[in-house]
Amino acid sequence: MSITLEQIKIINKKLENRFRDKLVVNKDLKRTLVSFQANKKTPYYRWYKFKEGYSSALVDYTFNKLNIKKGKIIDPFAGSGVSLFVSAERGLDAVGIELLPLAAEIIAVRKIIFEMDNHRNLIAFLQEWIEQKPWEYEKSGRGINHLKITQGAFPDKTEELTGKFLGAIHKNRNKEYRRVLRFALLCILEEISFTRKDGQCLRWDYRSGRGNGNNKFNKGPIKEFTQALTDKLKDIISDLSGDNTLFESANELKGELGSIEILQGSCLSILSKLRSNEFDILMTSPPYCNRYDYTRTYALELALLDVDEKNIRNLRQEMISCTVENKDKENLDLFFANTLDKATKVFDTQEQLQAIIRYLDEKKKNNELNNPGIARMVKNYFYESSLIIFECARLLKKGAPFVMVNDNVRYAGANIPVDLILSDIAQSAGFNVEQIWVLPTGKGNSSQQMGVHGREELRKCVYVWRKL
Ligand SMILES: C[S@@+](CC[C@H](N)C(=O)[O-])C[C@H]1O[C@@H](n2cnc3c(N)ncnc32)[C@H](O)[C@@H]1O
Repeated sequence: MSITLEQIKIINKKLENRFRDKLVVNKDLKRTLVSFQANKKTPYYRWYKFKEGYSSALVDYTFNKLNIKKGKIIDPFAGSGVSLFVSAERGLDAVGIELLPLAAEIIAVRKIIFEMDNHRNLIAFLQEWIEQKPWEYEKSGRGINHLKITQGAFPDKTEELTGKFLGAIHKNRNKEYRRVLRFALLCILEEISFTRKDGQCLRWDYRSGRGNGNNKFNKGPIKEFTQALTDKLKDIISDLSGDNTLFESANELKGELGSIEILQGSCLSILSKLRSNEFDILMTSPPYCNRYDYTRTYALELALLDVDEKNIRNLRQEMISCTVENKDKENLDLFFANTLDKATKVFDTQEQLQAIIRYLDEKKKNNELNNPGIARMVKNYFYESSLIIFECARLLKKGAPFVMVNDNVRYAGANIPVDLILSDIAQSAGFNVEQIWVLPTGKGNSSQQMGVHGREELRKCVYVWRKL
């Protein structure tokens, strides 16, 4: 018998009632705080605009709220490393897992800078580059690597200067400085290109000539290479010069700073290699179940980092399933040997989830989904998340908080309460669901009204679970 939207609503309601006391609208959590927005003016964190990141202020807020003062943190989806750097600044040791080479590079370069004894030499070096602009005197640059989806992304002059800049960098003997310079280039690629990152793909400005004359998209000013690059170097110098209190205090605290370790690869294969009861806190934000494709939106940067067509396809498949292209992953039984059976059982029996999977499968059969891959994406998103939650339960010490930022989603009219389904799975994995902080959205969205009106709104939440 087929399952209707009404039935989904009733089943969801049941879960909502169970978690009614845990869903708390948290007025401290403004949207800017739970996104990259609040980082825009924060020294260090403003360098690379990692749009899917959260702000350093959110990590600070969470640590203060949960009274976290010491220990070791893990972030299995480290992104640009916000959890890691805030933790290290506060004296905690941090381990981050990250698959996307761009994000891992952002962390690596920031770590190089973070760990330098002093920044005088680096500042002088960058200043010299701003003054001398060596790229403008390069005879012939290095060709820049492109992927099919990045061909023609830059105006000709910019493409030429980018190649010359890479050539000039290459001549420098200091490997760390070379990396800092390339990082500065990564930071400006979007603004000097015809493209804009748009979640599922790169959006092309009409000036690129793409779109057969039908393309009307205008991204606004496209920055000129030398201007954009020198502006970025100046930002970096300004933050390193201690004009900003945050960095000054970090410098003074040098001896008290925590360490940062980055494990590059998929957390699906890495988590099981880590020791049990090792961590005092986990704070993370996985990709949402929203079809965003990091390998496409970050294609310019990945190409610059020499990722080729084959690698990018592999990366797409290794990402946690959040796009319609993700296929079933192999080897999960090997990676999750300790937790697979338990996690699979919980996944198979989570009532709301199974109802939604059935609903989407039926919609798929009737050709009623925007894209048939949605059904598999949702199923695998939750399956992989279940495995990760169980594995992380193993890694965390008793009493350790597990904090996750995530969004609910809606497909084929059905609201998917990602927050409640994952919280239910977390309970089975040995967590107490302390609270689910809901971001205030519409007016009067109080916790009392959550059950009445909140259903129709797609909640954005910060989950606070605690290992029992
Ligand atoms: C929402 S972002 C994290 C942002 C981060 N909190 C920050 O503030 O920068 C999710 C990250 O998960 C990464 N990711 C996706 N699948 C992964 C996997 N299987 N293993 C490790 N990282 C993965 C993506 O590359 C992306 O950087």
